[in-house]
Amino acid sequence: MDTVLFFPFIFQRNSRWKRFFINVLCFLVVLLLFAQPTTSSSFCKPAKCGSSGPPIRFPFRLKGRQSVHCGYLGFDLSCNNQNQTVLNLPQSGEFILDHIDYIEQAISIKDPDLCLPKRILNFNLSGSPFHASYTRNYTFLNCSSDWNDNASFQFVPLLCLSGKNHSVFAMNLNSSDQGVPATCRRIMNVSIPQYQQFVELRLIWNEPGCEDCESRGGMCGFKSENGSDIGCSSPPNSGLPRIAKYGIIIGIGIPGLVCMLGLACHTCSQIWTFSLRQHENSELPTISQQPVVRVSGLDGPIIDSYPKTMLGESRRLPNPNDDTCPICLAEYQPKEILKTIPECNHYFHSACIDEWLMLNATCHVCRTSP
Ligand SMILES: *[C@@H]1O[C@H](CO)[C@@H](O)[C@H](O)[C@H]1NC(C)=O
Ligand SMILES: *[C@@H]1O[C@H](CO)[C@@H](O)[C@H](O)[C@H]1NC(C)=O
Ligand SMILES: *[C@@H]1O[C@H](CO)[C@@H](O)[C@H](O)[C@H]1NC(C)=O
Ligand SMILES: *[C@@H]1O[C@H](CO)[C@@H](O)[C@H](O)[C@H]1NC(C)=O
Ligand SMILES: *[C@@H]1O[C@H](CO)[C@@H](O)[C@H](O)[C@H]1NC(C)=O
Ligand SMILES: *[C@@H]1O[C@H](CO)[C@@H](O)[C@H](O)[C@H]1NC(C)=O
Ligand SMILES: *[C@@H]1O[C@H](CO)[C@@H](O)[C@H](O)[C@H]1NC(C)=O
Ligand SMILES: *[C@@H]1O[C@H](CO)[C@@H](O)[C@H](O)[C@H]1NC(C)=O
Ligand SMILES: *[C@@H]1O[C@H](CO)[C@@H](O)[C@H](O)[C@H]1NC(C)=O
Ligand SMILES: *[C@@H]1O[C@H](CO)[C@@H](O)[C@H](O)[C@H]1NC(C)=O
Repeated sequence: MDTVLFFPFIFQRNSRWKRFFINVLCFLVVLLLFAQPTTSSSFCKPAKCGSSGPPIRFPFRLKGRQSVHCGYLGFDLSCNNQNQTVLNLPQSGEFILDHIDYIEQAISIKDPDLCLPKRILNFNLSGSPFHASYTRNYTFLNCSSDWNDNASFQFVPLLCLSGKNHSVFAMNLNSSDQGVPATCRRIMNVSIPQYQQFVELRLIWNEPGCEDCESRGGMCGFKSENGSDIGCSSPPNSGLPRIAKYGIIIGIGIPGLVCMLGLACHTCSQIWTFSLRQHENSELPTISQQPVVRVSGLDGPIIDSYPKTMLGESRRLPNPNDDTCPICLAEYQPKEILKTIPECNHYFHSACIDEWLMLNATCHVCRTSP
């Protein structure tokens, strides 16, 4: 067996050329499938705060680093001195922009001081292009420090809002009021966007709508520096002439198909051969234990070698109950020639057992194989 360079499959000893052909094909297919086409775009270059921040591109714009036409109104971002991306909401102040999903058109924001509940207490999205995809109503409770005397009150205090002598909770309004300690005061009802453990808020935007462009791999942006029309830069490959596209489809598709088929056939044959071997191996012990199943008749010389006896007048046999030939079911008569199978000492008419042993190499009575 030889192993092939580009695939971890084990090939049988095929002809050299066949293997070479498969290798080259597979290599080309892999190359073509994984090579990312390079794109050149007339749109703005994406920017980032630091090295790990989210990539900033249309409709967002990094103030000071990308020109005005690179972003949409209300989507201006900046970097703070810790290389975090900062989003300023007109009514609610600055938040850290943690993640941008350009296809879902969603962002995740968090509080720079990591106390999102405090920000939620006066959160107002008016004046910004963002809104909550869905909201939940919460009641904030301010409880004196004996709140945990009440075992049935199962909420976890919002630590950054709580103090030594009081704890603040956010409780889903729709959840039952049962177990709320009597010393708790309802301080506020708020409708807050989808949150993650009170660490991040998820907001979405509708305008400008670039989902289609983004999901096709294109780049969204203003068509011209002064215009307000939004366009989508060509996704990779769509600018190629029709013939080139067909060429690529045929060039990749057919060899790819051939390669896949070849691999599939080969794998199948490998599995088949393997399971066949397994099968044979597993059957071997069975053969030695139950030879009856497979063994056919014995050879003439072996049959002739079995001891014969001529029955005397007394018809006496070692076992007195053996007075009938089990094959022809006829009683033994004096002077008849009997044959015995040495391994088990059973007697038969010589003619009967000869015929039987030619067909079946087992004792007719006890099925031992001589
Ligand atoms: C911010 O990023 C720049 C370059 O990416 C790096 O030189 C600088 O040290 C970073 N600052 C901090 C506080 O991480
Ligand atoms: C949000 O701010 C706007 C503008 O200041 C105001 O009109 C609106 O009532 C505020 N909404 C809430 C829920 O406070
Ligand atoms: C939240 O409360 C407002 C009124 O205060 C109500 O209109 C809205 O349906 C409530 N939302 C949920 C999810 O209960
Ligand atoms: C909760 O109540 C305590 C006094 O009982 C007060 O000092 C604190 O500011 C209150 N917290 C909030 C978030 O209202
Ligand atoms: C908490 O309560 C104790 C006494 O009950 C008081 O001495 C202390 O000043 C209070 N602490 C605060 C931060 O209010
Ligand atoms: C509150 O929950 C109850 C069931 O627990 C449900 O029937 C009701 O519709 C819910 N109300 C809201 C506003 O979600
Ligand atoms: C504990 O919860 C029950 C049920 O809501 C309430 O009646 C009781 O007053 C609470 N106990 C305290 C110490 O707040
Ligand atoms: C919050 O809403 C509940 C009913 O859902 C109401 O009983 C309570 O007075 C409200 N609290 C505030 C501070 O608005
Ligand atoms: C954009 O507008 C400015 C003046 O507002 C003008 O000078 C410039 O030529 C315009 N550019 C284009 C590409 O139309
Ligand atoms: C041989 O005889 C035995 C017992 O009579 C039977 O089970 C077996 O199938 C026979 N074998 C053949 C090959 O006929």
